[in-house]
Amino acid sequence: MITFNDPLKIQQHIIGLKKQGKTIALVPTMGYLHKGHLSLLKEAGKSADIVVLSIFVNPKQFGPKEDLNKYPRDYEHDKQLAQSLNTDIIFYPSEENMYPSGYSTYVTEETLSLNWCGKKRQGHFRGVTTVVLKLFNIIQPDTAFFGAKDIQQALVIKKMADDLNIPVKIQVCPIIREDDGVAMSSRNTYLSPQERIDTRLLKKSLDHATELFLSGFRDSALILDEMKDIILSAKSTEIDYIACVDQSTLEQKDNLSHGDRILLAVYVGKTRLIDNCQLP
Ligand code: PAJ
Repeated sequence: MITFNDPLKIQQHIIGLKKQGKTIALVPTMGYLHKGHLSLLKEAGKSADIVVLSIFVNPKQFGPKEDLNKYPRDYEHDKQLAQSLNTDIIFYPSEENMYPSGYSTYVTEETLSLNWCGKKRQGHFRGVTTVVLKLFNIIQPDTAFFGAKDIQQALVIKKMADDLNIPVKIQVCPIIREDDGVAMSSRNTYLSPQERIDTRLLKKSLDHATELFLSGFRDSALILDEMKDIILSAKSTEIDYIACVDQSTLEQKDNLSHGDRILLAVYVGKTRLIDNCQLP
């Protein structure tokens, strides 16, 4: 496994590999790897000759009042995990490597990114699309892997790649959960033991919505009301948003159909967590 910090050096290395006919898979992350990230690395390994893992806590996607400074980091542990999954290359740039002083170019997607997390976290998706476009230009992957846990992010990136004719295939992989249903997330480390228990209510509410849908209910207002009751049954929870949406446009739906998604963002204590499910 080779590690690069310098974008130009890794770019040159990748160009060399491509000249030899190697295919490249990219898994972009902010590190502090868990089984969700590892599932992406495993899928990437099946799809290409060379797997590149990027680890970069991207300051441009954090708002001024968000958790950039306390975001968990453990590079040495990440490196061991990556190695155990036969990752070929780690790209681990510094902030200065990615955004040297005077940096002034940004990319924005202007439809899918406006609502939900985009509305609640102003500037967040602009930071995500900017860093991911830079990663695509540096690594030039044939395929890039993203998790359905951040489904809006995955769709925004797919739209950016389509709109800007970037020759990359975006593959979206399923949400990986803990045994009790809680979606794996680096931010779960912020939770107190009681908050961690309360977090189970998120998946419980999504499962309840699926059951209602399967028993014939289609009215999203009714389904969302029942979900809210479940989520708010704990003292620590506060709903940021919860919505029934079309799976590709992410537009709100009053009447649910097969394949629609239910999205939620919930504060558990001070920690903002997101989760979602797709209706069968
Ligand atoms: P990060 O939160 O580290 O997540 C990296 C990738 O792992 C994302 O595609 C995310 O959807 C996926 N992921 C996280 N938890 C998952 C889970 N429980 N199951 C499956 N996949 C999961 O998302 C980011 O970083 C950043 O925004 C990034 C795309 C790297 C740009 O900075």
